[in-house]
Amino acid sequence: MTDQFAKKSEAWSARFSEPVSELVKRYTASVDFDQRLALFDIEGSLAHAAMLQAVGILSEQDLESIRQGMARIRTEIEGGEFRWSIDLEDVHLNIEKRLTELVGDAGKRLHTARSRNDQVATDIRLWMRSTIDEIRALLRALRISLLDVAETNAATVMPGFTHLQVAQPVTFGHHLLAYVEMFTRDDERLADCRRRVNRLPLGAAALAGTSYPIDREQVARALGFEGVCTNSLDAVSDRDFAIEFTACASVLMMHVSRLSEELVTWMSPRVGFIDLPDRFCTGSSIMPQKKNPDVPELARGKTGRVYGSLISLLTLMKAQPLAYNKDNQEDKEPLFDTADTVTETLRIFADMIAGIQVKPERMRAAAAEGFSTATDLADYLVRKGLPFRDAHEAVALAVRQAAARGIDLSDLSVDELRAFSPLVGDDVSQALSLEGSINARNHVGGTAPAQVREAIRRHRAALAG
Ligand code: ARG
Repeated sequence: MTDQFAKKSEAWSARFSEPVSELVKRYTASVDFDQRLALFDIEGSLAHAAMLQAVGILSEQDLESIRQGMARIRTEIEGGEFRWSIDLEDVHLNIEKRLTELVGDAGKRLHTARSRNDQVATDIRLWMRSTIDEIRALLRALRISLLDVAETNAATVMPGFTHLQVAQPVTFGHHLLAYVEMFTRDDERLADCRRRVNRLPLGAAALAGTSYPIDREQVARALGFEGVCTNSLDAVSDRDFAIEFTACASVLMMHVSRLSEELVTWMSPRVGFIDLPDRFCTGSSIMPQKKNPDVPELARGKTGRVYGSLISLLTLMKAQPLAYNKDNQEDKEPLFDTADTVTETLRIFADMIAGIQVKPERMRAAAAEGFSTATDLADYLVRKGLPFRDAHEAVALAVRQAAARGIDLSDLSVDELRAFSPLVGDDVSQALSLEGSINARNHVGGTAPAQVREAIRRHRAALAG
């Protein structure tokens, strides 16, 4: 056992006359959750140490000792052998203490020109940058799954809805592409957020900067930051970048929840547009016939906890005076939970969407009901010279009569339709057909299969570039 664990609780420093109580120790410690930042903490410390050596604060020998000690610590952490102790409060003090155990005074010199305040802000930014990159890669995979299913279904007709009432025919490919657009914007938002995350707080020290001749640009370059935070008070205290990340994640999950809701509806036997592979569904402990879409339901539910994290962080930051306050230690759990929820959800969704089993005949049958081509009949009459409002009224009458007889518009004969307007000709059946309806919407953003294929091509090119 290392002396780190053998010792009894000590006072925080010589400044204190007694140790904190057990309860306070547990209350104030963050190591149980912030140990997740360990490898980023080491990365930041190594960049800081290299800079201290370059400006003449650390000797070459000290730097070498720190590198060797950190390499060993990294191995211990990755191998699950590192002994975390809540006596040492957080990830930073645990690692620093172990370093000092391993390499002596060089370990004690590492904290020169640095504070845990700029250290933790740096760690979170490094962690968040890599999390954003991971989420963006997963968003890409999900979009590719959606594009693949959209391509196969570029001409698969389904009813489009407004108010959940059958509105006009669309293609299933077009419907899925709407989600590709949403997830593309989510990706853009994250990319934009990343620019503000990717700034170096180190050098701000506790709050005012440091009296040592540090080279912040060197540290920024070494850690891949695009620049340094240019006000020390702001650098250690604000967490707006974390709030922004959680806001991006909330919008993303809101989109996931919309898709989830549709998957659940489409899979209901009453609708029956799709089936999901068994590996994404579960049964009921009492009803043997059940196959439930648990994954989309859970994703819909988990959206709430991500919104919750956003509200937690906004409230955490609200009205905090400059500069660092211990409140900010509470930023980590909502962030980690958000990252875990979003990455797991996206990973499962990419796989699940790729496995959707489409039932085109059910979609088509639903599109053929509900007078989905009524607008097309009105447009037909407009093309023959009738003002749109009059055409709308004539078709409304036709729909009313068909509905009373329990048939669709396309079941009315040309003669019967002509009773509503003398402009109806023999070519009307083309306008009333599902294919006629979707093919007519042949412009950028429209549902015509040709446009759907073109949109897929554009998205694939953007994803490849
Ligand atoms: N564990 C702390 C946090 O997460 C690190 C910074 C502590 N700084 C301090 N002055 N107590 O925020």
